[in-house]
Amino acid sequence: MHINDKSNYKTYIPKEDRYQKISYNRSGKSGVLLPAISLGLWHNFGKYDHMANAEAILRTAFDHGITHFDLANNYGPPYGSAEESFGLLYKQNFKSYRNELFIATKAGYDMWPGPYGNHGSRKYLISSIDESLQRMNLEYVDLFYHHRPDPNTPLEETAIALYDIVRQGKALYVGVSRYNTDETNEMAKLLKELKVPFIIHQSRYSLFDRSIENNLLTTLAENKLGCIAFSPLAQGLLTDKYISRIPENSRALKSKTYLDVNAVEEKLPVVKKLNAIAQNRGQKLHQMAISWLLNQKGITSVLVGVSSPNQLEENIKATHNTLFSEEEIKQIHMLTHSFK
Ligand SMILES: NC(=O)c1ccc[n+]([C@@H]2O[C@H](COP(=O)([O-])OP(=O)(O)OC[C@H]3O[C@@H](n4cnc5c(N)ncnc54)[C@H](OP(=O)(O)O)[C@@H]3O)[C@@H](O)[C@H]2O)c1
Repeated sequence: MHINDKSNYKTYIPKEDRYQKISYNRSGKSGVLLPAISLGLWHNFGKYDHMANAEAILRTAFDHGITHFDLANNYGPPYGSAEESFGLLYKQNFKSYRNELFIATKAGYDMWPGPYGNHGSRKYLISSIDESLQRMNLEYVDLFYHHRPDPNTPLEETAIALYDIVRQGKALYVGVSRYNTDETNEMAKLLKELKVPFIIHQSRYSLFDRSIENNLLTTLAENKLGCIAFSPLAQGLLTDKYISRIPENSRALKSKTYLDVNAVEEKLPVVKKLNAIAQNRGQKLHQMAISWLLNQKGITSVLVGVSSPNQLEENIKATHNTLFSEEEIKQIHMLTHSFK
């Protein structure tokens, strides 16, 4: 990332009315309120991205009452660099607002070479949180996730590592991501016995991936857990950006491993039909995709990624219209129920 030109650098003063701009939902039955829309730093905060743009995105978020920033040890590229960028920007902009922020990081995917830099062992999780805190210039994170289940490490070992991380004051709350129903139930039971504040499940959920509706949302409700929906726009597919062409700087061209041109072309007919429904509602497709999620029972927050401050402002407008007519719900269901 490029360091800002200091001569033009403006000290950040957050907007005073920021808490009037968005609503906050309780995460399960915990004491934690999260903004209806949260910001993820998976893309656009790495070493090769523009620091000024990343800073503008974070400032726009906080100015609109978005208090929750979501990271992971391996966000970048390269791994660790999103946390480093965040750490630098945090120090420059948000340090005096630490108590107003709810910052999350995760470990669970490959992070460093050798047998201890991946999955769910105590060795990996405890080393990883220490490194994350250093990179982010933080004394603690608000939320630490086990990023994905590890079939080869006993769940008890992962649970006890999470317990220790909380007891050592390195995280206030814990969560899991990508755990299925059985794994979530088991982890909830273990963490309850250990009295660890387990508050949330991070799950992929969008009009193009409704699989958590099958069982997981019920399991989360039964365990009094919140749910934060990641990739709500299917990485940009659920917007009107790909309708007429694939733009130069879009994720489908830039990061072919996560969203590729074939996936875009395959989904385009449905995207166009959803876009027509959104237009009839007086919304953009990205707004309808987010509004629809906010209308689903059990969703605490919708976790968006953005490549510009303007995209974030556009997405926040989704919160202005979250009511759907029965006919709209029916039409959307017809087009997307097969993605369950
Ligand atoms: N737990 C996990 O395993 C996991 C996995 C994935 C993500 N996550 C978390 O979830 C966050 C969000 O995921 P995601 O980035 O895939 O979410 P997403 O919101 O589905 O996709 C973000 C992309 O959509 C496009 N976009 C967003 N708003 C737009 C708008 N108003 N108009 C046009 N295009 C728009 C942008 O693409 P362009 O770059 O093309 O402009 C943006 O980079 C991540 O940052 C991360 O924190 C977690």
